[in-house]
Amino acid sequence: MGWREPASVPLEPGENAPVLQATGLVRRLGSGAAAREVLRGVGLTLKAGEFAALTGPSGSGKSTLLYLLGGLDRPDRGEVRIAGTPLSAVHDDDLARLRNRLVGFVYQFHFLLPEFSALDNVLMPLWARGGGRSRADRAWGKELLGWMGLGDKTGKLPRELSGGEQQRVAVARALVNRPQLLLADEPTGNLDSANARMVYQLFRRLHQEQGQTILVVTHDPRWAAASDRVLRLLDGRIVADERRAAGNTAGDADGFDQGGS
Ligand SMILES: Nc1ncnc2c1ncn2[C@@H]1O[C@H](COP(=O)(O)OP(=O)(O)O)[C@@H](O)[C@H]1O
Ligand SMILES: [Mg+2]
Repeated sequence: MGWREPASVPLEPGENAPVLQATGLVRRLGSGAAAREVLRGVGLTLKAGEFAALTGPSGSGKSTLLYLLGGLDRPDRGEVRIAGTPLSAVHDDDLARLRNRLVGFVYQFHFLLPEFSALDNVLMPLWARGGGRSRADRAWGKELLGWMGLGDKTGKLPRELSGGEQQRVAVARALVNRPQLLLADEPTGNLDSANARMVYQLFRRLHQEQGQTILVVTHDPRWAAASDRVLRLLDGRIVADERRAAGNTAGDADGFDQGGS
């Protein structure tokens, strides 16, 4: 894909720019006869502090879209702007830095490094910026693990943790940079109900305390019901975009926003 002239948008994060803005995203995947348009013109805007869910059937393009929005992949057509910066104008090396500074990403599969402790896995994004070794950084990593209910497991290796615990470590890792934008691909997909609720409540807490902008791909109807906005993807297009009142506490007795167990 060729480099395009940056549009007349400031490269520095604009005060009033939406945290995330995508227009006309098209992504073709596969080659030869198997090539297909997985995304067929997706546009969406997330303002600072939105807590949104992205739903849609398996194969509808959710992961593909999230990768484009997080700058992990490039569209064939269309543009993604993060904090006003058009990613098409950013070279790959700079893109990695921009991501590291602004975006937290929770992968569908957690990709923890097996030979590092839970705490070191969490701190790793800071190492990439030359940090992560100070007392303050280590304390922050431990605090995040504490929020995830893993305060007593910071020294454990991934193989010494359950699947749910590993996933929560991956969530903590995505948060260690205090990203403005948090993107998560089915963060509760492999978790039981109690662990799923814990992850949801942590996201809510971050949202409340730090004003993060959050977009979560989810199949979990409780997560969607508890979100402020729900986008639905079908066959590579957004077919629904529904907002709820802020501070929405929808959901039945089993909903995530109910206290207790
Ligand atoms: N690298 C690839 N090459 C070819 N097809 C792909 C590739 N990645 C994903 N796809 C196809 O794109 C479609 C959307 O995939 P994906 O974004 O993973 O969907 P979702 O996350 O909604 O389940 C699927 O049909 C998938 O098979
Ligand atoms: Mg997916």
